[in-house]
Amino acid sequence: MLIHSINIVHKMSCLYKLCGVVVLSLMLLVSSGQVKAQDAAAPAGGGDAEKGKTLFTNNCAQCHSVTGEKVVGPGLKGIETRAPSKDWLHKWIKNSSALIATGDAYANQVFNANGKIQMSSFPSLSDADIDGILAYIDGANKAPAPGPTATTDGTSSAPAAAASSGPSELFTFVLIALLLVMLLVLGVLLAIVSILSKAVSPITAEDVTVVTSTFGQRLKTGLSDAFNNPTLRSIVIWLFLLVAAKETFDGAYSIGIQQGYAPKQPIAYSHKLHAGQYKIDCNYCHTGAQKGKNATIPAANICMNCHGVIKKESPEIQKIYTAIEENRPIEWVRVHNLPDLAYFNHSQHVNVGNVACQTCHGEIEKMEVVEARSSLTMGWCIDCHRRTEVNTKDNAYYDKLVALHRKESKEPLKVANIGGLECSKCHY
Ligand code: HEC
Ligand code: HEC
Ligand code: HEC
Ligand code: HEC
Ligand code: HEC
Ligand code: HEC
Repeated sequence: MLIHSINIVHKMSCLYKLCGVVVLSLMLLVSSGQVKAQDAAAPAGGGDAEKGKTLFTNNCAQCHSVTGEKVVGPGLKGIETRAPSKDWLHKWIKNSSALIATGDAYANQVFNANGKIQMSSFPSLSDADIDGILAYIDGANKAPAPGPTATTDGTSSAPAAAASSGPSELFTFVLIALLLVMLLVLGVLLAIVSILSKAVSPITAEDVTVVTSTFGQRLKTGLSDAFNNPTLRSIVIWLFLLVAAKETFDGAYSIGIQQGYAPKQPIAYSHKLHAGQYKIDCNYCHTGAQKGKNATIPAANICMNCHGVIKKESPEIQKIYTAIEENRPIEWVRVHNLPDLAYFNHSQHVNVGNVACQTCHGEIEKMEVVEARSSLTMGWCIDCHRRTEVNTKDNAYYDKLVALHRKESKEPLKVANIGGLECSKCHY
């Protein structure tokens, strides 16, 4: 009988150790799952929708939300039931204007219904890539909705939110639930082990009360023993350390990623009013964008070209006057900011590459307050360089390169082919 009990105690403590190992591995899984969810730039591993999410974030999120919310283009919730066919979607996303030109009824209807804004073409996306994007959109609508947060410009920041959630969040949730259950089992097992080991030790007067007490009381003494148990204590400490390490790691990962950042500015300047309603050209104020590295923020005297007469009495405009009188610059809060280790040049993109401001910054002319729409991560830069064809039209500089490239490949000349993936081009 005694030997039998000792056997049970031994088996129980083995089980208990096994539980400990399972809990630790679950912890590791949870933290690695988190990292995967954060790092949109990493090559996708977990199936089509995961890859689709990266593609969507880097190519579509500045114009589309995955919900019903309209950004520049319509919200893409339920797109597969709305569009004529999957084949139609492949054609549309690769080159919407070509499809419109064929006279396709639905294509023309969508085009006209959205103010005839031309959607970018994505000839380099394969059918499988597009199916991945569609799977991601579908999945994002099945997962618990992230609840779009309205921003001051009335549009939704849902694309940014949706981009950072997705199926892997559910995965993490399930893992955490499992972890909690395992921890509970661990505690109960420990309690039982300590009760049993007491039961098999030589009987003392004290133990008689334990044996005769109710099971509930036994569990209670077992639990209080458990807290004094050095093994359990060390497990708790380890768990704590793991969680702390994970938090630090996640924090480090999100440094520099400010997608969705829309700080309040010292003067209630509105792009929606100036660039949208009054159609003032971006280059009128951001004079550097065509010429050099920085797009530059306009100095107060550029505002005075108009506000020397317009709305002088407004308290917001008076702030411009005060700044000029005190001879100090207006302290605009910077929205986009690459770390010093990376080099980005506006004129290379805007002037030479002919890339529109909106491709990277979103529809600034609809924003009351500027919001960072792109992640500005290395993955974001690289992804565009892999997909975007070099604008070689009317640029003699590229003639030789194009001829050379044609000999080697049938693919069009991409930024990646002219050195757009070389570390030294973007890093000093
Ligand atoms: C520069 C903004 C822009 C980008 C980037 C963009 N779209 Fe669009 N998209 C639009 C606009 C605008 C429309 C509405 C049709 C039109 O005006 O051409 C549209 C329409 C669509 C439609 C049809 C919607 C409907 O209701 O039938 C689909 C599908 C679509 N886009 C998918 C995508 C996908 C997938 C991507 C990324 C690979 C993408 N779009 C990137 C602007 C954009
Ligand atoms: C009348 C002058 C004016 C015009 C026109 C204008 N902007 Fe601006 N822009 C500003 C000012 C002032 C700021 C700084 C305050 C702010 O962020 O709202 C700014 C900020 C920005 C920022 C954020 C800079 C940062 O801190 O990272 C971007 C991006 C931007 N503008 C793009 C554009 C684009 C694109 C257009 C054209 C569609 C445009 N702007 C037209 C004056 C102008
Ligand atoms: C090309 C002309 C022009 C320039 C340059 C210009 N604005 Fe304006 N701004 C306007 C017009 C027009 C209005 C609308 C006035 C009205 O509502 O009657 C306006 C309105 C405003 C308002 C709202 C005032 C209110 O109380 O309704 C603010 C704030 C403002 N501008 C700030 C700026 C700042 C800051 C700059 C410089 C970065 C600037 N503007 C440059 C033309 C200009
Ligand atoms: C290829 C993507 C891309 C395009 C196109 C682009 N920008 Fe930018 N923009 C960026 C990045 C990246 C930064 C951050 C740069 C940094 O921190 O060094 C930035 C920063 C800015 C800033 C604030 C800092 C600065 O450089 O002075 C302004 C203002 C701005 N952009 C305006 C514009 C305007 C206006 C256009 C169109 C004429 C434009 N951008 C086109 C990617 C782009
Ligand atoms: C929307 C697409 C797009 C994005 C996003 C983008 N680029 Fe580019 N980039 C281009 C294009 C197009 C060119 C080619 C311009 C030309 O014709 O020389 C280019 C060229 C360059 C070049 C010169 C390459 C060479 O070999 O001459 C550098 C450096 C560069 N980009 C850096 C960056 C950095 C850094 C970022 C991210 C912060 C970035 N780019 C984001 C489209 C993009
Ligand atoms: C097209 C431009 C571009 C190219 C090419 C590029 N990088 Fe980057 N890299 C960036 C940008 C932009 C950042 C800043 C990203 C951020 O703040 O999240 C960055 C960040 C980094 C970092 C800092 C860590 C991090 O993730 O923030 C390292 C390390 C790095 N790059 C290494 C490399 C190496 C090695 C290569 C060549 C194989 C390379 N990069 C090529 C644009 C580029």
